[in-house]
Amino acid sequence: MQADTIREARKRQDHSHELAEKGWYHSFELPDGTLIDGVNPLPRLRERFARFPIPDDLRGKRVLDIGAWDGWFSFEAERRGAGVTAVDCFEAPNFVELHRRLSSKVDYRVLEIYELPAAGLGKFDIVFLLGVLYHLRHPLLALEIVCGLTTDVAIVESFVTDGDTWREHTENIPTLEFYEGFELANQYDNWAGPSVACLLAMCRAAGFVRVELLHAEPYNAMVACYRRWEPQPAETSAPPQLMFVANNSDQGINFSSGKEQYIACWFRSSRETIAKEDLRLEVDGFGVAAYYTGRTQDDWWAANFPAARGLTPGWHNVRLRFADSDFSNVLRIAVDLPLHVGRIVCQGVRDAANGKSGEVTGTEGGYLTCWVTGLAENSDRNNVRVFLDGRRLSVHWVGTPDADGVSQINAAVPGIVPKGERMLRIECGGVSSEPWTVRVV
Ligand SMILES: C[S@@+](CC[C@H](N)C(=O)[O-])C[C@H]1O[C@@H](n2cnc3c(N)ncnc32)[C@H](O)[C@@H]1O
Repeated sequence: MQADTIREARKRQDHSHELAEKGWYHSFELPDGTLIDGVNPLPRLRERFARFPIPDDLRGKRVLDIGAWDGWFSFEAERRGAGVTAVDCFEAPNFVELHRRLSSKVDYRVLEIYELPAAGLGKFDIVFLLGVLYHLRHPLLALEIVCGLTTDVAIVESFVTDGDTWREHTENIPTLEFYEGFELANQYDNWAGPSVACLLAMCRAAGFVRVELLHAEPYNAMVACYRRWEPQPAETSAPPQLMFVANNSDQGINFSSGKEQYIACWFRSSRETIAKEDLRLEVDGFGVAAYYTGRTQDDWWAANFPAARGLTPGWHNVRLRFADSDFSNVLRIAVDLPLHVGRIVCQGVRDAANGKSGEVTGTEGGYLTCWVTGLAENSDRNNVRVFLDGRRLSVHWVGTPDADGVSQINAAVPGIVPKGERMLRIECGGVSSEPWTVRVV
């Protein structure tokens, strides 16, 4: 299409005159029979709601409506029994008036979408992000926030550039038009116009594990974004055995929710071939899709995943299945956990290769194993430091404390470490052990 034609088509999305005339964006039929005629006619609003893949009866569900404006979707979810929180970046007088006239209990907050993670509202089974995405300067960040707040499904509806033609170019790279000024609908607060493929891709990239296009029409598309994998099949095959789970950047068990981090897993399976699409990782029940898997050796496999969005501080259960198998055993990762270290006491040191107590061979590939008490549950190879005299050793493994509170540490002892009696010291979380004598041979 010619640039001029595209610019004209974007400008034509302007409904501001009709809005100024009617004064309402949504239409309403109130219980006393009063009809309010807004820019969005009632049949259209009902049709949009009917497309949401959610039960008619919303009792027991928590719903968050972001960018509620006059509030038709909030009040409709409340009418169906949901506990509703409605949010907008400005206080909409129409919403406030209807809230009073309907004696509504919707929890109405004036908040920017970016303020939601710190607003302390909790999590929601269902989140509506309807007609908001293209208004945002940071659409992917906003979708990540929505993902972190959703426990079941988010409905994302947006302006799209190719709602009528997307099927004709499914092989193309997804595009996002950027509007610096008034290009879209003559409004300065419209920033981004995704293609349908881009909208779907951004919802996946934000952390939703299953994303389904519900509807597309010229300049509008609606997507269901799920946090959980599809249900397990009734007949299942042998599950993988999960061996290790770690932060891919440092191989430890600690994750920081404020950072862009990835989960590395090692698992065992006798399958001949495994594709990343076969894997179904879960963190506390939330699905994440693998971006890599490959055999390391024999029946050992490695796989990498993005970290799940919205994890709260604490321990989180990780398990893995194939599309057609049962789940594996559970391993844990720590998110935003402080290090609570006690008095660190060395209980013994051995050469990892020959098992000799109190000594270690300093050589290429030389390792010591030591056992200590006092480390934290989330001590790992990144927060534990091992010194021989003043020399810091490379820590390869820190196990979780056993029932007696004893943790195992493996550290490399290269050939350059001088032979003779050396002082071993363990440090973690600013606490140091007393020195322990080790002979380097
Ligand atoms: C086009 S209206 C959509 C109304 C309704 N959700 C619907 O789909 O019919 C966009 C709404 O998003 C709100 N909005 C825009 N930017 C926002 C932001 N950064 N945070 C929260 N709400 C925002 C606007 O104030 C407006 O009420």
